[in-house]
Amino acid sequence: MKTLGRIAEVRESIKEWKKQGLTVGLVPTMGYLHAGHKSLIDKAHEENDKVVVSIFVNPIQFGVNEDLDAYPRNLERDSKLCEDAGVDIIFHPLASEMYFKDFCTYTDMDSLTHNLCGMSRPSHFRGVCTVVNKLFNIVTPDKAYFGKKDAQQLAIIKRMVRDLNIDTEVIECPIVREQDGLALSSRNAYLSAEERKAALVLSKALAEGRKVFEGGEKNATVVLDTMKAIIEKEPLARIDYVKIVDSDTIEDVEAIDGKVLVAMAVFVGKTRLIDNISF
Ligand code: PAJ
Repeated sequence: MKTLGRIAEVRESIKEWKKQGLTVGLVPTMGYLHAGHKSLIDKAHEENDKVVVSIFVNPIQFGVNEDLDAYPRNLERDSKLCEDAGVDIIFHPLASEMYFKDFCTYTDMDSLTHNLCGMSRPSHFRGVCTVVNKLFNIVTPDKAYFGKKDAQQLAIIKRMVRDLNIDTEVIECPIVREQDGLALSSRNAYLSAEERKAALVLSKALAEGRKVFEGGEKNATVVLDTMKAIIEKEPLARIDYVKIVDSDTIEDVEAIDGKVLVAMAVFVGKTRLIDNISF
């Protein structure tokens, strides 16, 4: 496994592989890897000859008061996980390698980005689309792997790939959870023991929402009220949003019919956690 920081070095390896007719899978990450990331890497390994994992805490997807500096990092541990998983290249650039001082070209989207996480993080998805588009240009992967954990991000990346005719297949991977239901996230590292317990309200509320829906309830407001009541009972939790949206358009729905995404962002203490399920 090689760890490369330079775009030119990555391109050289990719060119060599493509000359040999080998396929390339890309797993974009911000590092502090866990079993959720590993599931993407394993899938990429199964489906491609070569696997590239990018580890880059992308500054332009963080808002001014967000956790860019505090975001957990551990390249040594990440490298071990990647090596053990059979990754061929870790691409770990400096921010200065990715963004010229006078960088001014962004990839943005008119719809899909304003609801859910886009409400409290208005420039977040512009940052995500820009960096993922750049990574696609650098690695030119046959397939790229994204988790349903970030369901809105996944819908946005799929749309970007379609709209910009990017020659990469987006592969969606299921959410990996702890045994008690908490969705794995690098940000779980911020939680105290007490907050870790409280964080279970997200998956509990989603499970309850599903139960109500499966009991025949089609009114989105009724399902949402059930879920919100569960979260509001937890003193350490504060709702950012709990919503039911169309899975493709990310627009709110009133009646649940067709494929919907039930998504939430909840602060547990100071940590903002997201989770979702699809009906
Ligand atoms: P990051 O949060 O590191 O996540 C990288 C990938 O891992 C994303 O596709 C995410 O959905 C997936 N992932 C995270 N937790 C998961 C879990 N519990 N189960 C399954 N998949 C999970 O998402 C980003 O980084 C960034 O926005 C990025 C796309 C790399 C752009 O900077």
